[in-house]
Amino acid sequence: MKKNTSRVQPVDALVRNARRRHFGVATLAAIFSLFALYVAWYEAHGPKVQRNDELPITQARADDASQSANGEVVPAEVAGGNLVKRGEYLARAGDCAACHTADKARPFAGGLPINTPFGTIVTPNITPDPDTGIGQWSDADFLRAMHEGIGRSGQRLYPAFPYAEYTKVTDQDVLAIRAYLNTLTPIHYSPPGNSLTFPFNQRWLMVFWNLFNFTEGRFVPDPKQSAQWNRGAYLVQGLAHCEECHTPRNFTQGLKSSSRLSGAVQAGWHAYNITSDKTSGVGNWSDDELVSYLSTGAAPGRANAAGPMAEVVADSTQYLTREDLGSIVAYLRAVPPINGGESRPRDQWGNPADDVTALRGTAIHAVNGAQLFVANCASCHSWTGQGVGASAPGAYPSLIHNSAVGASDANNLALVILRGVSRTTKQADVLMPAFGTQLSDDQVAAITNYVTRQFGNPQSTVTADQVTQLRTQQ
Ligand code: HEC
Ligand code: HEC
Ligand code: HEC
Repeated sequence: MKKNTSRVQPVDALVRNARRRHFGVATLAAIFSLFALYVAWYEAHGPKVQRNDELPITQARADDASQSANGEVVPAEVAGGNLVKRGEYLARAGDCAACHTADKARPFAGGLPINTPFGTIVTPNITPDPDTGIGQWSDADFLRAMHEGIGRSGQRLYPAFPYAEYTKVTDQDVLAIRAYLNTLTPIHYSPPGNSLTFPFNQRWLMVFWNLFNFTEGRFVPDPKQSAQWNRGAYLVQGLAHCEECHTPRNFTQGLKSSSRLSGAVQAGWHAYNITSDKTSGVGNWSDDELVSYLSTGAAPGRANAAGPMAEVVADSTQYLTREDLGSIVAYLRAVPPINGGESRPRDQWGNPADDVTALRGTAIHAVNGAQLFVANCASCHSWTGQGVGASAPGAYPSLIHNSAVGASDANNLALVILRGVSRTTKQADVLMPAFGTQLSDDQVAAITNYVTRQFGNPQSTVTADQVTQLRTQQ
């Protein structure tokens, strides 16, 4: 129906349309309720999951080892070792450790609370401990968890576990990860339970979440694209789950597939638009800058990874091969540009401060952002804001042409001041002290507003109340 040519509809047509719509809604509601009842019944009485497809992991490894690429039979010892190595690499690409490690002394034993709008989900133990970990899981159980989001006893897993992405990973890669996890020291530890509000503590409801937000299935290469693009797509859409943070969500917390990678807020931090848009995304970054950012956490003159992305770099992307990083970059280049309406790229703002007397002021009255900046920040970033050490590893970066300072909101800047930066990579141990305990919310807001006004996007401001809010973020 052409909407704009028939503005005025006869009254009876309107009534008919309204009725049809009501009928449609009622039918949908009825089907939905019946389905819910059925699912509830099924969860309570349905056939228990059968695990006759069990294959001991040792055997699976040997089987896998016997099929080398050129069809030769490789000794199980050698290939088994390679499988574990591959598994370790892939587990890093999937950043399993980030969520399943709460205490560095207990790697992969879970216990990390993940805050969601519906309550807190605590990550489980995925070490091979038979009682508290996944030691008794068959390969089929593991594949089903990764591909379908279903736990060992058939229960639905919450999508805080990124199975919506992991479903794209090949069986072979999933089993390599399993083989690696199997070589970890088993840790006997049961993490505390979840605290979710009703009805979200009902796992079976995830059936509905899945209905709207989840498509099970392995990655299908696009023959029209290059091998490099396909490898990048496989990593970005799958194991590396970049979209979990960078893609905005709909009201059911599913990813908005129409605005992939166009930016979202993650625990107070803005995971920026990384589409190929030249103003709002990373379309104006060079390939080398993107690779440098993903492998070290710094792209001088563009951005530094300080928040959740610093963890991604430290635990995951720094370990990826040049080839894989190149593929990720090739894929990002081809992500359709999405413009968020910014007037300038976030890394193209700011000028050095040029009048130090104005900064010194005469008397300290009330809260003065410029004076607080000189007192707390200038020793490293220089009073001009230009930093020290230019682009050397571990330099004190320039605040001019820095994405956190030029972004359209100042969240990340305020969070950097509150929490500092701590990022360990093969290249450098990067440390900026946290000011959260020394500075009040008023003072953090004042410095933030001075820094954006002087060195970045002057339209980005925060209030002391917003800083209070940011402090409470996990
Ligand atoms: C973004 C955080 C996150 C990442 C990354 C992550 N997981 Fe998890 N995982 C979770 C959460 C949360 C759960 C629990 C879900 C639930 O209770 O329903 C979970 C559950 C699981 C389970 C089910 C365990 C059980 O006892 O039911 C397995 C297996 C698992 N994850 C493996 C992995 C592997 C392998 C990786 C890396 C490839 C990984 N996870 C990466 C958050 C994560
Ligand atoms: C756990 C959430 C999370 C995941 C997963 C994640 N990112 Fe990020 N990313 C962020 C946040 C938050 C920022 C903002 C910078 C910061 O954290 O200091 C960011 C920043 C970036 C930036 C810099 C943008 C700028 O202008 O400053 C790039 C590029 C980027 N991410 C690429 C990726 C890619 C590629 C992946 C997947 C391999 C990925 N991210 C996965 C949260 C995430
Ligand atoms: C002891 C030295 C030191 C002090 C003092 C210091 N910084 Fe930093 N700052 C650093 C280092 C180191 C980094 C991280 C560089 C990197 O990522 O490679 C950093 C990074 C930053 C970033 C970039 C973060 C991002 O997400 O892009 C900003 C913005 C920043 N500092 C602002 C401040 C402000 C404002 C103050 C004062 C409240 C301050 N710094 C005080 C050393 C310092």
